[in-house]
Amino acid sequence: MKAKILVAILASLGLLLTGTIAVRAADDALKAGTCTNCHDVDKKKVGPSLKDVAKKGGDPAALTAKIKDGKGHPKVNKPEADIKAAVDAALATK
Ligand code: HEC
Repeated sequence: MKAKILVAILASLGLLLTGTIAVRAADDALKAGTCTNCHDVDKKKVGPSLKDVAKKGGDPAALTAKIKDGKGHPKVNKPEADIKAAVDAALATK
């Protein structure tokens, strides 16, 4: 009985922890990409909120190219992998 409770507690701790780490990683990706200069998660800033962006959706590869090349989006001068990670993080905010 006690062992079962312990397992349940450990399992929920694990879930909490992985959730927090995932959110941190997304945050870091967006900061590293300087996206947060212009985007907030749930408020309009210079650009639309990331939640709106996620709701609208789109092809991550196409959005990455758009941001990298500065075509239809302010150019972000960062490695493609960083931008892709940030786009994925942005699309995951909905
Ligand atoms: C200099 C300001 C600025 C920065 C930095 C910036 N954005 Fe944006 N973003 C905008 C503006 C303004 C729009 C809305 C107009 C547009 O689509 O060009 C937008 C729109 C978007 C859209 C929607 C585009 C579409 O076609 O639907 C996505 C996705 C996006 N940004 C992601 C990002 C990501 C990811 C980063 C970081 C790598 C980033 N943005 C950095 C200003 C910025």
